[in-house]
Amino acid sequence: MYIKAEILDFINRNSKNEYDSFYVYDSQKIREHCRAFKSITYKNKSIHFASMANVNPQFLNIVKEEYLNIFVNSVMHMEMAYKSGFRADEIIFTSSALSCEVMKKAESYGVQINADSPNQLMQWMKLFPDKPIGIRCNIGDAVKPYSNHAGSFIGNNSRLGFTIREIRDIPDKSKVKGFHLYVGTDIFDINYFIDCYKELIALTEDFPELEYLNFGGGFGVSENGDEKFDFGQYNTRVSELMQDISHKKGKSIKLILEPGRIIGGEAGYFVCYVSDIKDRKEMQFVGVNASTVQFSRPLLYADIADHPVMVIRGGTPIQTDDKRATTIYGCSTYSRDIFSNNIELPELQTGDTIVFGNAGSYCASSYMQFLGFRKPEEFFV
Ligand SMILES: Cc1ncc(COP(=O)(O)O)c(C=O)c1O
Repeated sequence: MYIKAEILDFINRNSKNEYDSFYVYDSQKIREHCRAFKSITYKNKSIHFASMANVNPQFLNIVKEEYLNIFVNSVMHMEMAYKSGFRADEIIFTSSALSCEVMKKAESYGVQINADSPNQLMQWMKLFPDKPIGIRCNIGDAVKPYSNHAGSFIGNNSRLGFTIREIRDIPDKSKVKGFHLYVGTDIFDINYFIDCYKELIALTEDFPELEYLNFGGGFGVSENGDEKFDFGQYNTRVSELMQDISHKKGKSIKLILEPGRIIGGEAGYFVCYVSDIKDRKEMQFVGVNASTVQFSRPLLYADIADHPVMVIRGGTPIQTDDKRATTIYGCSTYSRDIFSNNIELPELQTGDTIVFGNAGSYCASSYMQFLGFRKPEEFFV
């Protein structure tokens, strides 16, 4: 793992000081990812950062400065977005099983909403008969659904969105102004995105008031950083697709995207230090002064989370080929409090600084009070 000099310097100045463990973000990297989306050639577009990936106000501020809008899935995040200065027309609210109270609240803010089921659509129409709405769609098994650690987001196994039949059976199609699709997460295969988008587009035929197509997020970030999402190809293909559909509809259809993990994933680092070592023949068990409830991606996705690790000793990253099997565990009694299981690291010492990479998305935002550790500080360099 490579860390920029400024970030390394910040870590060295703050590690083992008053903050026992903390997050530090490379602001420039966050900006670069925002700009990649803003540079998509198709003009009529709106890019909404998926706030569940990171709701830190400073993070949101960077995203806003880069002219991204925001996507929220709860009232709390909607209010945080509002407080961070996003206007109502810059906020999209998509969730599931919305109560009447939540619908009324979202409507009172004036944000754009996508309904998740025929019942949700009916409930909305009863409350606000004159207000068109978007629908979240499930294209079924029209494309072989991609399923990974996070489950299935489309296909017959997914609980989310309208099925194809339910879409066709919508009684008053003029009340639907947009189609939303979320194809899955951490996907690199551009063909898969485009195949799914095409299936969605095929469903829009009988909807005369269509204004937007929201293709959600899912842009891949690899665990070890080896694979990079191919923005160039994605840009070309999605722009062509949007030009084509706009041409067919005889009006400009807005493209909406909701990138989450990719915006800040690689920009974040979680920093802690070695507080105990248990040397067992086959394995060094390394205890750190932090818990996975503070850096919870390894806890939530234990099977796949594989965050790169850097060890710093005396201010300098250790670089050696002399490594041994290592498990890094948290300082609680919880049996699953494991940061990294059976990875190769140098012989460690108490006091070494440990830096986990790829920690900028779905990490600080999924902090848990469980086990009694404080929420780590977050710094932006
Ligand atoms: C509807 C929707 N859009 C966007 C996102 C962001 O996804 P990702 O982080 O995979 O880009 C999510 C994440 O769960 C989502 O549910």
